[in-house]
Amino acid sequence: MKELILIITAYLIGSIPTALIISKSFFGVDIREYGSGNMGATNTFRVLGAKFGTIVMAGDMLKGILAVALYNLLPYYLTNELDRTNLMIGLGLAAVLGHIYPIWAQFRGGKGVATLFGMLLAIQPVVAASCVGVFLLVLFLTRYVSLSSILAGVALPICVLWVYNEKEVFYRVFAVAVAALVVLTHQKNISRLLKGNENRVPILKYRDR
Ligand code: G3P
Repeated sequence: MKELILIITAYLIGSIPTALIISKSFFGVDIREYGSGNMGATNTFRVLGAKFGTIVMAGDMLKGILAVALYNLLPYYLTNELDRTNLMIGLGLAAVLGHIYPIWAQFRGGKGVATLFGMLLAIQPVVAASCVGVFLLVLFLTRYVSLSSILAGVALPICVLWVYNEKEVFYRVFAVAVAALVVLTHQKNISRLLKGNENRVPILKYRDR
């Protein structure tokens, strides 16, 4: 029961619509009506500039970190390492789902990449760093943020296989599910990539529709 309350709290934290709060507070606009229409850091970079993009990225990552940190609020410690990891994964995943389907923003959120990175950083920094390596390499080679996110997501199960042993089944299931989730949330990007009209690195200035 206590675990369930923590999972719901993690979802509510993930639901905080960072990009929407920033775009409404500073520009009086809904970020989802501009650029790619995504409520995330990349689109904030693209539409509102580097400063606000960085704030949104930090905020969205922090949601993943905070969600995992909720684990420490349990009035007891799970002695089994496996149970502990599984609960942390559940908390992080709830935050990622909150970011994608936010209760505070009509369930129209972002693609979950920054929050996913935050949760991975909190649970397994080596895996997080490996995925960032893939992200940066693809970004350097192609200048597509979306393709970099997709390939970093797909790299996750491979990194997990490399770091975790065969007993940690939940971690493997989670990694494959997350890879599928990242591909799913990037459907429009994939379609644009295939058509050859996907945005490359963000244009760092405010643009009207
Ligand atoms: O993490 C989101 C990024 O991969 C794509 O964002 O705005 O280009 O759809 P966007």
